[in-house]
Amino acid sequence: MKKYNVAVIGLGFIGLPLSLSYAMKGANVIGIDVNQTLIEEINRGHSHHLEYYQGKSLQDILREQLQAKSFRATTSYQEAAEVVDHYIITVGVDVKNGDPQFAHLQSAMETLASVLKKNDTVLVRSTVVPGTTEEMVKPILERGGLEAGKDFYLGYSSERIAEGRAFEEFITMPLAVGGINEESRIKARELLQVVTEAPIHETEIKIVETAKVVENIQRDVNIAMVQEIARFAEATGMDTYELIKTANTHTRVQLLVPGPGVGAIVYRMPSTIYYPKRKNIRFLLNY
Ligand SMILES: NC(=O)c1ccc[n+]([C@@H]2O[C@H](COP(=O)([O-])OP(=O)(O)OC[C@H]3O[C@@H](n4cnc5c(N)ncnc54)[C@H](O)[C@@H]3O)[C@@H](O)[C@H]2O)c1
Repeated sequence: MKKYNVAVIGLGFIGLPLSLSYAMKGANVIGIDVNQTLIEEINRGHSHHLEYYQGKSLQDILREQLQAKSFRATTSYQEAAEVVDHYIITVGVDVKNGDPQFAHLQSAMETLASVLKKNDTVLVRSTVVPGTTEEMVKPILERGGLEAGKDFYLGYSSERIAEGRAFEEFITMPLAVGGINEESRIKARELLQVVTEAPIHETEIKIVETAKVVENIQRDVNIAMVQEIARFAEATGMDTYELIKTANTHTRVQLLVPGPGVGAIVYRMPSTIYYPKRKNIRFLLNY
């Protein structure tokens, strides 16, 4: 099999385990992050992420891959560009007061544009506002003088893993991928297939970007609905779990189990634990 040289840009909840998943599959991986302290910690083999795979913690896997020299972390895009020809972007788009904050993604793409080489592949995996890959990422990367689809390949594939199950779901979760042109889509799919063993649906970039937001909306609505049902059951003295279990005996009904609220807000927005009253785009871009 071809030896892949891959840079993962953004070493957070997604980027670090994803980097290690590529390294475990035999790729030579360089992780890039702007956070110098994080880079030093990672290169010392330290991580706070609570991910496990085949009985090993992420930290065990990190130490193994550092020792095998199949993974290292850096703040230098230039250093990575000397070695890699594939880039996976996992820098997030935060939302403040309902507005998406593109600064981190923009800055990452500006720096990448300055080191991008002919025939490189760029695969965006961040959750984004639909249109971002073609209308923001592409023009920024082209500022370096290369044309997307001709001189370098550009694709988008949403990330669908749940924290705590990252390593397993990078392999088993079905994916969707789009490319700026057919060659880009094929390159993006091949890069995904280094790690994934699941089916990959191929379509337009904007559809994949929008589908990710739609998937988050459906989860958000389902979680909010079951919270309402739990409140109703509590207020009327019913056993919530017995109520849900009973409704779920219908073969076309699949209510979730009530929990602390919507996805990542459990620790990112503690004030909304149990019942999130504010529903906005922040939740939809957050996981
Ligand atoms: N965490 C999840 O469960 C999950 C699931 C599915 C999708 N996603 C999406 O994946 C993306 C990443 O999420 P995350 O939870 O890993 O985010 P995170 O905040 O944990 O990590 C992002 C990393 O990017 C780094 N960064 C910022 N600017 C940079 C730059 N210019 N160059 C290099 N690195 C830079 C930050 O320092 C940080 O370490 C987001 O778009 C998120 O919505 C997350």
